Amino acid sequence: MEKLVIHGQKRLKGEVTVSGAKNAAVAIIPATILSDGDCTIENIPDILDVSILKDILTDLGSNIKKLNDSSLYIDNSNINSFTATNKQIGKLRASYYLMGALLGRFNKAVVTFPGGCDFGVRPIDQHIKGFEALGAKVEIEHGKVIITAQKLVGAPVYLDVVSVGATINIMLAAVKAEGVTTIENAAKEPHIVDVANFLNAMGADIKGAGTDVIKIRGKKHLKGGHTYTIIPDQIEAGTYMIAAAATKGDVLVKNVIPKHMESLTAKLQEMNVKVDVFDDSIRVYSRDKIQKVNIKTLPYPGFPTDLQPPITSLLCRAEGTSTITEGVWDNRFQYVDELKRMGAKIKVEGRMAVIEGPVRLTGAPVRAMDLRAGAAMVVAGLMARGETVISNISYIDRGYERLEEKLRALGADVERIK
Ligand code: EPZ
Repeated sequence: MEKLVIHGQKRLKGEVTVSGAKNAAVAIIPATILSDGDCTIENIPDILDVSILKDILTDLGSNIKKLNDSSLYIDNSNINSFTATNKQIGKLRASYYLMGALLGRFNKAVVTFPGGCDFGVRPIDQHIKGFEALGAKVEIEHGKVIITAQKLVGAPVYLDVVSVGATINIMLAAVKAEGVTTIENAAKEPHIVDVANFLNAMGADIKGAGTDVIKIRGKKHLKGGHTYTIIPDQIEAGTYMIAAAATKGDVLVKNVIPKHMESLTAKLQEMNVKVDVFDDSIRVYSRDKIQKVNIKTLPYPGFPTDLQPPITSLLCRAEGTSTITEGVWDNRFQYVDELKRMGAKIKVEGRMAVIEGPVRLTGAPVRAMDLRAGAAMVVAGLMARGETVISNISYIDRGYERLEEKLRALGADVERIK
């Protein structure tokens, strides 16, 4: 089993380039199933979730070629199965996008119940609500979701909760449905706009992605033969911005879309961290004391829940008491006990964490409880005095491309050991 070993208290300095967005890639790869032909996708992050999806699509009959580290050629003309029950599906939350994509192509889909990070209950009732609104019948049997439809017909769908996954999945099922679908109270995350742009490049007719009302006019066919470039990863960019502030460093984070980083930029500035914003890069530098703040995570454009764990590590350095309220997931503070092993003073009350600072963290053996909890351990390890050893790092590999290499290039003392 591999572990990450970090010797902390080194200021991060220099430049880091952000990779393609995981949460766009894991939706766009299944979305290729909706095209009759082939396509090339560029700026795909080289992460575990992507390689799992490649295996799953290959199982379905897809012909996938890796053109280079960040480009895939995908030809789905020979996909001949609507049953996705590959054992890896249970590992991946985003495998739920196979439901919308296979349903959109075959009017049928049989998909193993999705897995993914454990944040308490992770229902898919809104996905099912959308599929049923389009005329599909949904049954759950033996751990599989079985979806069948004579014909998919466009319809209005009002989401009871703002859900990224349900918004994208209903879009996937609706692009080839007869007539018009409207998704109201839709999620607005950047990766939703990226998936809509990808589908529109294949000839779909989607309007309003990025707003809370999305309108989809179904088309009979979606063409192949185009090349699409995925947006940069908002959460990876945010993780490096937080790591720079946490180590009193000076880092230029390159290949970002500053608009996507506004909530984090504002929060870091409120914490007295210097942030300079350029066209496609952001410089974060901090030498002074960090001020305490209160944060509430919310759907985009609110503060992203996926940056909640790493910024909690940073707040251990702040002067005074900070609070973080988790506004999206029921139970996303399980990693806090690992930070306490490093000397953090954090109290969790329901969906709120109260963080006392400043505290000098000390290195310790800790576990990555999930992907972003793993990022919190890395940030804490970079801040801590002495050696931190992080286990369960396959969680980190699921969503961060070449993390230790990028950190070492910024002067961090981090090593992967077998
Ligand atoms: C996506 O998960 C992301 N995953 C998550 O990022 C991210 O935390 C989350 O959106 C919120 O931004 C991917 O894109 C693959 P939701 P998703 O549906 O789609 C409730 C990471 O670290 N809900 O927006 O699963 C749900 O319980 C991962 O990259 C229902 O009640 O999240 C939650 O409270 C972790 N019924 C809220 O909505 C449903 O049918 C938001 O969930 C669906 C969701």
